[in-house]
Amino acid sequence: MDRFLIEGPCTLHGSVRVSGAKNAVLPLMAATLISRGRSRIRNVPRLRDTRTMARVLETLGAKVRFEGDLLEIDTRDARGIEAPYDLVKTMRASIYVLGPTLARHREARVSLPGGCAWGPRPVDLHLQGMEALGAKVRIEGGYIEARADRLRGAEFSFELSSVGATANVLMAAVVAEGRTVLENAAREPEVTQLAEALVASGARIEGVGSTRLEIEGVEELSPLDVTVIPDRIEAGTFLAAAALLHSEIEVRGLRRDHLEATIEALEQTGCTFTEKDGGQTLVAHGQNARRGVDLVTRPFPGFATDMQAQMMAVACCMEGTSVIADTIYPDRFTHVAEIRRLGADIRLDGNSAVIRGVDRLAGAPVMATDLRASAALILAGLAAEGTTLVDRVYHIDRGYEDIEEKLHGLGATIERVAGPPTP
Ligand code: EPZ
Repeated sequence: MDRFLIEGPCTLHGSVRVSGAKNAVLPLMAATLISRGRSRIRNVPRLRDTRTMARVLETLGAKVRFEGDLLEIDTRDARGIEAPYDLVKTMRASIYVLGPTLARHREARVSLPGGCAWGPRPVDLHLQGMEALGAKVRIEGGYIEARADRLRGAEFSFELSSVGATANVLMAAVVAEGRTVLENAAREPEVTQLAEALVASGARIEGVGSTRLEIEGVEELSPLDVTVIPDRIEAGTFLAAAALLHSEIEVRGLRRDHLEATIEALEQTGCTFTEKDGGQTLVAHGQNARRGVDLVTRPFPGFATDMQAQMMAVACCMEGTSVIADTIYPDRFTHVAEIRRLGADIRLDGNSAVIRGVDRLAGAPVMATDLRASAALILAGLAAEGTTLVDRVYHIDRGYEDIEEKLHGLGATIERVAGPPTP
């Protein structure tokens, strides 16, 4: 099990390019199952999760070929309907094949995804949406079993804003008979990109980018041909590093319109930004970042829960007291105990963390518990004095392409070392 050896404190400098968005490419890969043909997806990051999703698609009979950052998926022979537990348990996003498989084969058998490091992660909204479209859904032996003679359009309102449920139900609705209206749909950029890609393949969707999607079902879709949007969470992580490390970093290949809440959060510290290339490049000037932050996570365009842990690492080294609340996942604080090991002063109170800035963090061995916690620990390790050993970095390999090379390029001292074999 690999580990990262990090020497701090360090100042970063230079320029880094953001990869394609993990949370955009995963639903796009699943959506290729709706059509019978060869889809092409570009700007695909090489991640554990994209490789896992490729295995899920291959299990269903698709042929998947990576060529650099181009992904070709041939679904002409994708006759399978079952996504097995041994794959789904390694990546919850495997559930994205439920909607497309139901849409194409009128039946699907998908293992229930487990929980994750910080909570149960229910999928009831996914299932309610499929039932609204006429599917019969039951849970049997840890599997979701869904059948539908014909998917029929319906009016459905999500009781919670859910990225995954919106994407899954949308992928079923685009080939359902008649009109579907989805209220309180998630409008994260990754959902918007999925809707745009489906429209480019022949789907009829109105209200793309809003919380109300109106879909007129079509008989079939043509294969996808899409370039993945930049990863706004990876970009935000590098921007946060500039503030934390009082550095100036140029982050290229991003979309500023996907990062407004993160920019505002970092501006609270005193970090400032220069925009270039029409909003595709941001230079973060973190030299004067020192003030604490008050943040509450919200559905897009609010402050992203996936940036919560990284901003906590920043807050640990800012002056004064910061308060960070997570309204999306009230228990998403597994990184707190680990960051405390570096000397941070963090107190949890329900779904809020109260962080008192400290003068210094001191390096120590810590353990990553999930993807964004890993990023927070790496940031904290770069700020801490001495050596920090981050264990279980397979978590970060799920969602950050070439993270140590990118940090190296910015001047960080970080080395991947092989850890002891998994116990
Ligand atoms: C997506 O997860 C992302 N994952 C998560 O990123 C992200 O944290 C989350 O959206 C919120 O933005 C992918 O895109 C692969 P939700 P998802 O459904 O779709 C509740 C990362 O680090 N809910 O928007 O699973 C849920 O418990 C990952 O890249 C239900 O109650 O999240 C949560 O409180 C971590 N029932 C809220 O809705 C459901 O059926 C939002 O979850 C579904 C969700």
